[in-house]
Amino acid sequence: MTTVAVLGATSGIAHATLRQWAARGDDLRLVARDAERLARVEGDLTARGAGAVVPLLHDLGTVEAVEAAVDALFADGPVDVVLVAFGTMPSQEDADASAAVAASLLTVNGTLTALAAHLVALRLGEQASGGRLAVIGSVAGDRGRQSNYLYGAAKAMVATAVAGLQHRCADTSVDVTLVKPGPTDTPMTAHLRGGRPALAKVETVAGDIVKAVDERRPVVYTPRRWAVIMTIVRLLPRRVFERTKL
Ligand SMILES: NC(=O)c1ccc[n+]([C@@H]2O[C@H](COP(=O)([O-])OP(=O)(O)OC[C@H]3O[C@@H](n4cnc5c(N)ncnc54)[C@H](OP(=O)(O)O)[C@@H]3O)[C@@H](O)[C@H]2O)c1
Repeated sequence: MTTVAVLGATSGIAHATLRQWAARGDDLRLVARDAERLARVEGDLTARGAGAVVPLLHDLGTVEAVEAAVDALFADGPVDVVLVAFGTMPSQEDADASAAVAASLLTVNGTLTALAAHLVALRLGEQASGGRLAVIGSVAGDRGRQSNYLYGAAKAMVATAVAGLQHRCADTSVDVTLVKPGPTDTPMTAHLRGGRPALAKVETVAGDIVKAVDERRPVVYTPRRWAVIMTIVRLLPRRVFERTKL
């Protein structure tokens, strides 16, 4: 029996991924900040065949809260797989209008996500059985773009933290996966529906996450085409890049 824990369990991507783990009968520990949404997710996963489901109500907006949530995840015994999935994506315009919004964007998606990954990796390293950690970054972290460079900067911080954790854990039984989704159809991107590029189905991204964790892959772009797209975006000469509206 596998025990899976998720920080940010009510996220669209996390919920879809949890459905696949629930279908395997895994035990689940779910951290989220909204009691009503968490109860709905818990009920759905139980109905889909999950083993024991433990809901844990925590806001993840401060260092202390992240620390408490990680403690709570491991309080009931070893965990085999942890997914770090919480995040926010206010628009660049909202971040332009408010330094507080910009700072929160950077803190939640960068500092607190990297901190959560770091704390979880330490805990997995203390377990005799080790474990697997997947952290959701983003293709946005691969190159700063005018339309969302603060969010991208936070995700780049997460990518660097994960690379460091992978190095640190290289000769241990802890495996760390960085997940880089392209634009995906979740509440976070509801305002982008019907635009270009088309949003990926959340089930596709969830399937790629489950597979990458199973295979202990270091990095997964999802859907896969985003690996090619971001290679091109990264390689575009600056003068060409600056003429785009990306
Ligand atoms: N959708 C995309 O296109 C896309 C692309 C690349 C990467 N990602 C990343 O994928 C991850 C999941 O996002 P999603 O697309 O599934 O969006 P989502 O459905 O909006 O999920 C975001 C989740 O983060 C939670 N959250 C935010 N701040 C929190 C806090 N302070 N404490 C506790 N929970 C908090 C939200 O909780 P509430 O429900 O309570 O607000 C929500 O469950 C994020 O890291 C996001 O940056 C998404």
